[in-house]
Amino acid sequence: MNQENPQGTETTHFGYKEVPVEEKQQLVGQVFDSVAEKYDIMNDVMSMGVHRLWKRFFVQTCQIRPDDQVLDLAGGTGDIAALIYPQLDERGQIVLSDINPNMLAVGRRRLIDRGMVRNLAFVEANAEQLPFEDNRFDLVTIAFGLRNVTRQDRALAEMLRVLKPGGKARILEFSRVQSPLLAKAYDAYSFGFLPAMGQLVAKDAESYRYLAESIRKHPDQETLAAMMREAGFSGVRYQNLNAGIVAIHTGYKA
Ligand SMILES: C[S@@+](CC[C@H](N)C(=O)[O-])C[C@H]1O[C@@H](n2cnc3c(N)ncnc32)[C@H](O)[C@@H]1O
Repeated sequence: MNQENPQGTETTHFGYKEVPVEEKQQLVGQVFDSVAEKYDIMNDVMSMGVHRLWKRFFVQTCQIRPDDQVLDLAGGTGDIAALIYPQLDERGQIVLSDINPNMLAVGRRRLIDRGMVRNLAFVEANAEQLPFEDNRFDLVTIAFGLRNVTRQDRALAEMLRVLKPGGKARILEFSRVQSPLLAKAYDAYSFGFLPAMGQLVAKDAESYRYLAESIRKHPDQETLAAMMREAGFSGVRYQNLNAGIVAIHTGYKA
């Protein structure tokens, strides 16, 4: 996915900008530092609450067993971890992990406030280089996180490495809208309404413009499925929600 410019520097996209690979992580970090405290309210405003339905469906269809060891990557303020938590018993564990300490701090506060303390761990980590041993988890989830990762191939390889044989990775991410009519309306919404609301509610139009651009630059359904196969996942499949506004990809470690 990343490219080389004429000076021989490896570059990648940050929204619609082409930036040196080393810079993207820092720029993404600035976006999430800036939005951390307003992230949850903005999610509700921007998606009119629909992100909650997507996340609930995503977790409901993970087929979680009570004793599962689960890793939620790029877990941010903890929405996915909060939905998984009640499905586990005392043998299960969920690790909420994110590269951004501010997002993770909001997540920790929210989950602890809701009485979620047992068998829950918080780990600051880059999805490209996970501090977990091989074959540790039954399930690895990542929701609206992968498109922010600089080297997505490395993150997929790491997801596979930390899964137990037979374990499952699930990716919830914005994808390619399948209907041209809806795509037009969605474009107007993303590049008009989103930055305007970002400015109004969070006083930060730029971060929300990045979010809209990063969605357009993210691999489409088939490309992501091919990347997962390339990383070594088997049984890769995906399901579109809301005509492909988002998609859920699933892959297994053989
Ligand atoms: C849009 S938020 C999604 C948060 C949460 N999963 C949700 O669905 O609400 C994206 C998250 O990805 C995290 N992130 C970005 N790059 C990352 C990386 N390389 N490794 C781990 N997390 C990363 C950000 O810090 C941010 O918390």
